[in-house]
Amino acid sequence: MRLLKTLSLLVCPLATLVSAISWTATPFNPSSIPLAVRTPYLSAWLPQGQGAALNDAWATFWTGMIVGWAGFAKVDSVPYLFLGTPSVPAVTFNKAVQKSSQFTSTQSIFVLSAGPVDLTVTFLSPVEPNDLVKQSIPFSYMAVSAASTDESTHSVQIYSDISAEWVSGDNSLLVDWNSTTSGAILTHQVQLQTPNVFGEVNDHTQYGFAFYSTPNTVGATFQTGPDVTVRAQFVNNGKLANTQDTNFRAISDNWPVFGLAHDLGTINSSSDPVVFSVGHIRDPAIEYIVADGGLQNRSLYFLSEFPTSADVILSFLDDFGAALTRANAFDAQVQTDAGKISADYAAVVALSIRQALGATELTISKTPSGAFNTSDVILFMKEISSDGNVNTVDVIFPSWPIFLYTNPMLGKFLLEGLFRYQASGQYPNAWSVHDLGQSPFEIDRYFALGHNDGADEAMPVEESGNMVIMALSYAQKTRDISHLQTYHALLTQWTGFLVSDSLIPANQISTDDFAGALANQTNLAIKGIVGIGAMAEIESLLGNTAQSQNYSSIASSYVTQWQNLSASTTGPHLTLSVSVGVRFGSTFFLFGDKLLKLNLFPASVYDEQTAWYQTHANAFGVPLDTRHTYTKTDWQIFTASWATTTAVRDLLIGAVKKWVSDGQNNGPFGDLYDTVTGAIAVGFRARPVVGGHLALVRSIYLFIRVSPGF
Ligand SMILES: *[C@@H]1O[C@H](CO)[C@@H](O)[C@H](O)[C@H]1NC(C)=O
Ligand SMILES: *[C@@H]1O[C@H](CO)[C@@H](O)[C@H](O)[C@H]1NC(C)=O
Ligand SMILES: *[C@@H]1O[C@H](CO)[C@@H](O)[C@H](O)[C@H]1NC(C)=O
Ligand SMILES: *[C@@H]1O[C@H](CO)[C@@H](O)[C@H](O)[C@H]1NC(C)=O
Ligand SMILES: *[C@@H]1O[C@H](CO)[C@@H](O)[C@H](O)[C@H]1NC(C)=O
Ligand SMILES: *[C@@H]1O[C@H](CO)[C@@H](O)[C@H](O)[C@H]1NC(C)=O
Ligand SMILES: *[C@@H]1O[C@H](CO)[C@@H](O)[C@H](O)[C@H]1NC(C)=O
Repeated sequence: MRLLKTLSLLVCPLATLVSAISWTATPFNPSSIPLAVRTPYLSAWLPQGQGAALNDAWATFWTGMIVGWAGFAKVDSVPYLFLGTPSVPAVTFNKAVQKSSQFTSTQSIFVLSAGPVDLTVTFLSPVEPNDLVKQSIPFSYMAVSAASTDESTHSVQIYSDISAEWVSGDNSLLVDWNSTTSGAILTHQVQLQTPNVFGEVNDHTQYGFAFYSTPNTVGATFQTGPDVTVRAQFVNNGKLANTQDTNFRAISDNWPVFGLAHDLGTINSSSDPVVFSVGHIRDPAIEYIVADGGLQNRSLYFLSEFPTSADVILSFLDDFGAALTRANAFDAQVQTDAGKISADYAAVVALSIRQALGATELTISKTPSGAFNTSDVILFMKEISSDGNVNTVDVIFPSWPIFLYTNPMLGKFLLEGLFRYQASGQYPNAWSVHDLGQSPFEIDRYFALGHNDGADEAMPVEESGNMVIMALSYAQKTRDISHLQTYHALLTQWTGFLVSDSLIPANQISTDDFAGALANQTNLAIKGIVGIGAMAEIESLLGNTAQSQNYSSIASSYVTQWQNLSASTTGPHLTLSVSVGVRFGSTFFLFGDKLLKLNLFPASVYDEQTAWYQTHANAFGVPLDTRHTYTKTDWQIFTASWATTTAVRDLLIGAVKKWVSDGQNNGPFGDLYDTVTGAIAVGFRARPVVGGHLALVRSIYLFIRVSPGF
């Protein structure tokens, strides 16, 4: 996480806002609805605040910058706008009326009535954790179907376009484009005229290609040109001109748009959907540091199967029906698993899944001969919004539950880049590195070049504990102990550091760096002690009995001493810092003790803390500690995962749900906010840490006990 110079909370009215939406929102109306969310650079949302229909607002990048995406339908020759808020001078059209919105784990579905026809617009961002090719395809679907609502048949045409805003964060830059107008698929491709490999502007990538595509079925038409021209063409004629604009220019210069249209013909009760795909491909995806300061370009995994964009687009569009079936099954499974806790919980989880995975990209390297090496997989995760760091350890840790739930192998691929870099011996500190990327604030580029100067944002106990805990967690979940063997020396080194600095941690920051540095943090001591306990288990799995017993007895002895040090002198709760005695501090890191089934901390600690939470909630939840009134959604859910009463569990879940649905905010799920006002911290949105919202899903705790020496 980045060290915020000042933490600013948006000022907003204290009055509870109630969304004034006129449609049915299922399960609730969130601060922003994911539309196409697959990677840090394919991230389109519909901002909500107090509610915006699909044709009340433009889709925006996670930062809030518009990514032009428009849609019209003609029903019996009458034009209706269903997507975006384009203005098309000199033509008139109606606005379809939104009847419902719904989100699931993989889909956002809107129904709008366009005269005598209902349009169902489904945005599907696949979640394919068990298929590395499919998971790494940076594309998303929009499917539109029409159904008559008056028992008569109707003639329907559907149109949609994207603008060139999908390829840059600077709309004054020059772009060019071309179109594939024959064959099975119609595809528009757009790119910057002067790309900047690995570069970013306003968090948008500055190289690679955006694609907008649809099957080239009978009656399908295309057109590129100024927004007003192409849209007016469809609104007037119900079809496009099959012409291409070759006057290449800036993104905002007579806004070139890339239009596609279908004629559904005459429809009655329901039509098959017309499907569009939007995507963004760049190659190489990232540059990664290898041994001896060498650099390695890494590519998205799917390129090993699909050498050209045409191949992957054809496959992706062909797969829509099957992808929808898989998505529905995944959504139902999440609903069943998370629904066992509560309906609110299932909704919070569903909203979190695309966002968390959408911060990640699966990459592979090439062999010396230039072939893709699919045995060499690293998953990169961008921190997003708090900064652009890559594979930040204390961002991976809070998001860890989603990987345990979807496919723990993805977790291994996330840790691999960190392990491999540090095993290369280039990182000089005794503790674990904070991240693989460049220092915050320095550069607008996406790299994983490590920190050979050791000057990364130091979080010694935090990151060392996180690495050991996640290494064990993965092994427990999968029976795979190969990484424990390969990286045993690093794990031993980090645990040695924890032994020296966990009971009474030196003055340092923890994951909540915005709260500043502090000595003796109670919660951080828990992290370190759990890390030592985890290493005892790791040694046991590796058959190193003596080492295991040593770490085990150190961890137990630290717990006993810690209890004395952290007990408050003013009440039955734990303090913020050991040896201060009066202030309260959250102890969300107890999650690790439960997750790994270490049971280092006595039940009385859990009971006492739970009771304290019960009586110290503000309108939007329980503050992290007594220094401030803010809290975090991930840490509240981690706390809910071990709270010993259902009342406190539900209080914390309810707080998160209330916060993300109360209408004050219009960004993707934010995780840091004020418990009194509900104001979000500026710059904490769309972060993958919401993957931690899966911390109560039962299955993440079920693991196969690995026998020693397995
Ligand atoms: C579009 O341009 C790209 C990049 O120059 C090229 O690879 C592709 O073949 C072109 N497509 C068409 C249909 O001309
Ligand atoms: C509805 O349309 C489909 C496809 O055109 C056709 O097969 C079906 O018979 C129609 N049903 C009715 C009730 O008109
Ligand atoms: C990575 O790719 C970029 C852009 O193609 C190139 O400039 C750079 O030299 C490559 N780096 C390596 C290590 O191959
Ligand atoms: C492929 O990657 C694996 C894992 O990094 C490595 O061990 C292997 O040598 C690589 N293969 C080739 C041919 O480079
Ligand atoms: C136990 O571990 C600590 C910390 O790594 C180490 O200093 C100590 O020598 C170990 N003791 C034994 C008996 O292995
Ligand atoms: C931290 O704990 C040590 C040892 O108990 C104590 O000397 C020091 O004053 C404490 N520091 C703070 C800031 O509480
Ligand atoms: C806990 O503190 C009490 C009172 O200071 C002391 O008597 C006791 O020995 C301490 N126990 C441990 C395990 O440190």
